Amino acid sequence: MKAFLALSTFITAATVVCAQFVSIAVPSPGATIAPGSNLLVEIDRSNTNSEVHEVATAIALSPGGPQACLAGTTASSVLFVGPYDPQLDPGTGHKPPNQNFTVLVPESAPLGTAQLSVTRFFALGAVRGPSYEYKSITVTVG
Ligand SMILES: *[C@@H]1O[C@H](CO)[C@@H](O)[C@H](O)[C@H]1NC(C)=O
Repeated sequence: MKAFLALSTFITAATVVCAQFVSIAVPSPGATIAPGSNLLVEIDRSNTNSEVHEVATAIALSPGGPQACLAGTTASSVLFVGPYDPQLDPGTGHKPPNQNFTVLVPESAPLGTAQLSVTRFFALGAVRGPSYEYKSITVTVG
């Protein structure tokens, strides 16, 4: 029972956490990206009043469709791991806080459908409850 209560508390917290989402703004879903080229990835974070502590973010490229999405298969390439520090664009109030990453698409990336994903680790609120979020878009490597 105690475990159940702990789990339901966790789920409730996770539901709240879902409001703190990021999205891949660039490239667009369906974009074609070339092996061996630099790729600009813009990650937007929804504006929030909650206290969010960004821990780390990983950008990965995994061959296959959305169902094959978890970046962790052997053919996946991790393109970036490091801090995420989204900023409001100077002079414009139109865009949510965002950060641009320039990553190198590996020469060896398998051609065809792939998932470009962002996995974000963060801590929320005064208690710094750890959480993570996974988002992906479908692109074509070619
Ligand atoms: C990121 O790049 C976009 C253009 O792709 C630009 O509009 C935006 O201002 C850049 N963001 C930051 C924080 O510099």
